[in-house]
Amino acid sequence: MRKLLATGGAGFIGSEFVRQGVERGYEIAVIDKLSYAGDTERLKNAEGKITFYKIDVTDRESVGEVFRKEKPDIVVHWAAESHVDRSIQDASPFLDTNIKGTQALLDIARQHEIKGFINISTDEVYGDLEEEGQFYETTPLNPSSPYSVSKASADMLGRAYHRTYGLPVITIRPSNNYGPWQYPEKLIPVVILKALNNQKVPVYAKGENVREWLFVSDCAEAVFEAVEKGRAGEIYNVGSGEEKRNIDVVKTILKILGKTEDLIEFVKDRLGHDFRYSLNSDRIRREIGWKPKVQFSEGIEKTVKWYLDNVEWVKRKIYV
Ligand SMILES: NC(=O)c1ccc[n+]([C@@H]2O[C@H](COP(=O)([O-])OP(=O)(O)OC[C@H]3O[C@@H](n4cnc5c(N)ncnc54)[C@H](O)[C@@H]3O)[C@@H](O)[C@H]2O)c1
Repeated sequence: MRKLLATGGAGFIGSEFVRQGVERGYEIAVIDKLSYAGDTERLKNAEGKITFYKIDVTDRESVGEVFRKEKPDIVVHWAAESHVDRSIQDASPFLDTNIKGTQALLDIARQHEIKGFINISTDEVYGDLEEEGQFYETTPLNPSSPYSVSKASADMLGRAYHRTYGLPVITIRPSNNYGPWQYPEKLIPVVILKALNNQKVPVYAKGENVREWLFVSDCAEAVFEAVEKGRAGEIYNVGSGEEKRNIDVVKTILKILGKTEDLIEFVKDRLGHDFRYSLNSDRIRREIGWKPKVQFSEGIEKTVKWYLDNVEWVKRKIYV
């Protein structure tokens, strides 16, 4: 069984990946600096089964030591600053972690005999779409926010290291994830928590922006499929095909919670807000055989239930 090194393994999606990896019998080491968004509580089920290093990915010396000690076969790079709104307030941490951090990892990976480097990118690197059309892996990148620019840079760096040095990099571009353990600054947990407390639920502009919602376990499964069957140098879009307007997501959550739509409050739009993302994910379905298992109607019920059952964790996050 191959050894994985997962960066950002204490984050929302990275921790799902680590939990699944343990169940699949992988040996896993995690590097995470535990930013405001990281929390080892997400890994409590994996306690004693993984090795955890509290390290910043930009700290080359410490990351190098982990590589020497762990000798990973495959690196799965999830660590990032991930919230668009924060990148609009201050782009600097995004450029540091997402660009310089990725460069550091790629450089260190080059010095070791790794068999794969899975570089986690995002659908946001493509920019946005009008009502029609889809993004293909061949669509030119056209990112709009400081976050998506930093992710596009990291994405291109990974591909450049494959082409220039032959590093076996696979690029994954997932759509919007949702599910348990997401930090309560992103749309779905914010709506659940505000509604639970009978507070106004803020929705940007008129809530018409469209996102493609992917349940977090499906995203992690896609990455395992890429670890096991992906081709070095390849890019894989990973989307559910389930597009929803934000306002419809909000209304669905209010309905599950038995709340009225009076709670909705339209607020000033996000600066530079992308209108719509939509991935064509035929390649990963065709070449690797992955497909999503959790439909939005089921995933959103599970997610709301999880937040209801884990209110204490969420409260601790909000006051950080
Ligand atoms: N959440 C989504 O909808 C989504 C969609 C597509 C792609 N992605 C990408 O997937 C990855 C994971 O996203 P997420 O939502 O789980 O993010 P997250 O913010 O929940 O987790 C990020 C993790 O990275 C860690 N981290 C941040 N800076 C670090 C640094 N300098 N060194 C080491 N660790 C650091 C944090 O402590 C945290 O544990 C990111 O690369 C993100 O861009 C996310």
